[in-house]
Amino acid sequence: MAHAERRKRDASSRPAAGRRAAKAGPPAGRVTSGPATSVSFRLNGVPFEREVPVGWTLLELLREGLGFTGTKCGCGIGECGACTVLLNGEAVNSCLVLASQIDGARVWTIEGVAPAGGRELHPVQRAFVESGAVHCGFCTPGMVMSVLGLLLKNPNPTEAEMRSAIDGNLCRCTGYAQVMDALRRSVSQVSDSDLAKFRS
Ligand code: FES
Ligand code: FES
Repeated sequence: MAHAERRKRDASSRPAAGRRAAKAGPPAGRVTSGPATSVSFRLNGVPFEREVPVGWTLLELLREGLGFTGTKCGCGIGECGACTVLLNGEAVNSCLVLASQIDGARVWTIEGVAPAGGRELHPVQRAFVESGAVHCGFCTPGMVMSVLGLLLKNPNPTEAEMRSAIDGNLCRCTGYAQVMDALRRSVSQVSDSDLAKFRS
């Protein structure tokens, strides 16, 4: 999703929640007071139910509430793409989505990308390594999620569509040549079965 388009994205599509969610305690981390709301959602294929302080973003829920710190916070205002996750199959900036909006939704983060419980790399992750597109790595989780979002929507993107897919992901290290190389490798190496779980 292009940067400008992604910034406007909301969480309006809400598929029904899957099997019964395990009840979880209140989010750990930031001390809050005031009203909370309950959300049920699937995170990396696993059902969750949480009490979330009103006003928390999805990024806060992931990092502070659940300890999923693979999703990074670069700016908190929709400018850097470090917080990109898949929400119902679309790449979104999780700092711009309210946690209360994900009730019934499917969320995938970088922690869920690698197959075999993380013992192997997903082909998109492998493409980043093979292309030398991981330097400090701070932007990489968001980049990987943006590439997955593109491939879910369009498995055969043009060069312009590839550039557009990552135009909201800022990288201070690579200069983008390696990232574009990783994108091209991803397009040629990722099969439909590599994307199947992100649709559930
Ligand atoms: S932290 Fe969300 S776009 Fe920068
Ligand atoms: S690899 Fe360092 S910001 Fe992208």
